[in-house]
Amino acid sequence: MELIVTSLRLEAEGVLGVELRDAAHAELPPFAPGAHVDVSFPNGLTRQYSIASAASDRTRYWLGIGLAPASRGGSRFAHSELRLGDRLPIGAPRSLFGLHEAAAGHLFVAGGIGITPILSMIRQCIEQALPWRLLYCVRSRRHAAYLEQLAPFADRVVLHADDEQDGHADIAGALRQMPSGWHVYTCGPGAMMDAVCGHAAVLGIDHDAVHLERFGAAAVQPGDERDAFQVRLLRHGGRFTVPREASILEVLEANGVCLPFSCREGLCRSCEVPLAAGVAEHRDYVLSDEERIANKSILICVSRAKGAELVLDV
Ligand code: FES
Repeated sequence: MELIVTSLRLEAEGVLGVELRDAAHAELPPFAPGAHVDVSFPNGLTRQYSIASAASDRTRYWLGIGLAPASRGGSRFAHSELRLGDRLPIGAPRSLFGLHEAAAGHLFVAGGIGITPILSMIRQCIEQALPWRLLYCVRSRRHAAYLEQLAPFADRVVLHADDEQDGHADIAGALRQMPSGWHVYTCGPGAMMDAVCGHAAVLGIDHDAVHLERFGAAAVQPGDERDAFQVRLLRHGGRFTVPREASILEVLEANGVCLPFSCREGLCRSCEVPLAAGVAEHRDYVLSDEERIANKSILICVSRAKGAELVLDV
């Protein structure tokens, strides 16, 4: 669908709020709180951004776009070039992160721009009178988006600003005080989400009660299995070497094999292809544990091979 930029608002330093509506004021497709959409910019880039508005409001999508320091053109374009009245192709909302129906309550741990999908989930909690709490971690209040909207809920919101408090946010404390039967949802920097998972494991919180939304692929750690390997295309034909520093997608593109993609960060599934042979080293954030174990497909923008060769059914 093509939507019009009807409002631009600086939500915080480095956080641009973008309101999108249909030109004919038609209702927009429904979405689940925590969903994101693909946004295609006029510079040819497509990026995923979370929806901050209420799922009950079908008249618009409010997106929160954080200016990424190492932006390859998506958020930088939005922050410097986007204008009121621009028309943007937008994909249907997709949800990999949402409120768990069986949870007795919801603890949110947001870091920086990670508040965007969580705000939509909080709105749902408020509308449905569901119990919730938020630990919101920011570098400073200047960088904290949506504080005005959270202000009426001061009894449920703990703001941790790095420049105001000594030490790290008390994630362990928030998890320890989480009532039984609640689920925890976290979105933000990888280190913060790793801390949530680590503390949750130590505290014995059920793995299924911990939900994550990542905005980018994990940094490669020293010792990661990233050796070169071969990739063979079953139907198209051809065998290519994927070196340590390139993805399968990049190698295929360089060899004139163009397959669909969108985020190039393991977040959207656009580049998923069937695996005919070989074992994948899954590095995406969207396949379920069952899908990883089944080893039937691979997201070629980030995932690699565990062995010497992968055969793609392409
Ligand atoms: S392009 Fe989005 S997961 Fe690969």
